[in-house]
Amino acid sequence: MDHSPQKRMLVGALSTLGALGALTFSASALAQEIDHAKAAIEFEKFRAEMEDSNPSELFELKGEELWKAKRGPKNVSLAESCDLGQGIGKIEGAYVQMPRYFADADAVMDAERRIVWCMVEKQGFKFDDIAKKPFATDTFTPDATNLVTYVAAHSKNMKIAVPLKDPKVKEAWEIGKEMAAYRAGPYDFSCNTCHGTDGKRIRMQDLPNLATAAGAIKGVQGWPGYRMTGGIQLTHQWRMTDCFRQQRFPAPKYTSDAIAYLLTYMIGNANGQVYKGPGIKR
Ligand code: HEC
Repeated sequence: MDHSPQKRMLVGALSTLGALGALTFSASALAQEIDHAKAAIEFEKFRAEMEDSNPSELFELKGEELWKAKRGPKNVSLAESCDLGQGIGKIEGAYVQMPRYFADADAVMDAERRIVWCMVEKQGFKFDDIAKKPFATDTFTPDATNLVTYVAAHSKNMKIAVPLKDPKVKEAWEIGKEMAAYRAGPYDFSCNTCHGTDGKRIRMQDLPNLATAAGAIKGVQGWPGYRMTGGIQLTHQWRMTDCFRQQRFPAPKYTSDAIAYLLTYMIGNANGQVYKGPGIKR
């Protein structure tokens, strides 16, 4: 081995550089962490302030009107015709017990899918008309969004209880689990690429790990919710559709099986935890 002073100096210099490199790297990582923490604190402050005058309540009120009014070509109300799994017209606790299997539709349905199904089957609205503008814009909130918000508000502070013992629901959960792991598209992304490990984030947004109870509840809490970005009310159906876009997948059909399976997987993973009602999302 060569122990010349030059060599020792070189090695010394290199290791100092290495240490400096590590230091600058961790300093910028630290700065990022601090920025992230600051943004999270700001959002929490805003959310806490808004809690007393939760903007979701406006949509809830509109939803209540829609639920009780005789509407559509058949001129019936949802209150007198729609069964969300607890009996016709009953909404207490219905939201936290969906997705569930509905024999009349022979399908596992999340809340929005079921409500839209009732609007079509019971009130006589046309699915294609509803599906044309399924999500809110600055100037428009779909009836289904208001209705989901109303129904969800009647599960506030209740435990999530997706009936996974029902074999049809369990099957939907299994398919949802496979879908979450399925990689495809131009970037070969799956849901799990972004949501399958703890502590992932993109542009300061925490990406919950949907496979764990702690992560799954984050994907349930606050939905349907008033989104600070854009100032509009959005639902789980929207969230799923937007994440298909994040994933560079073709847009799923509104209230499709695919979305119901993913929601069964995610909400089912949050079983046993308390749902705090419609809220605010970043
Ligand atoms: C390319 C990364 C990426 C992929 C792939 C992806 N998502 Fe997301 N997801 C995001 C981002 C970014 C957000 C927004 C986080 C925020 O706004 O706080 C998000 C948010 C969510 C949320 C809401 C979380 C919350 O805090 O309320 C859910 C639920 C979700 N995604 C589910 C899915 C599902 C299911 C899939 C697969 C179909 C998927 N995502 C695929 C990046 C991704």
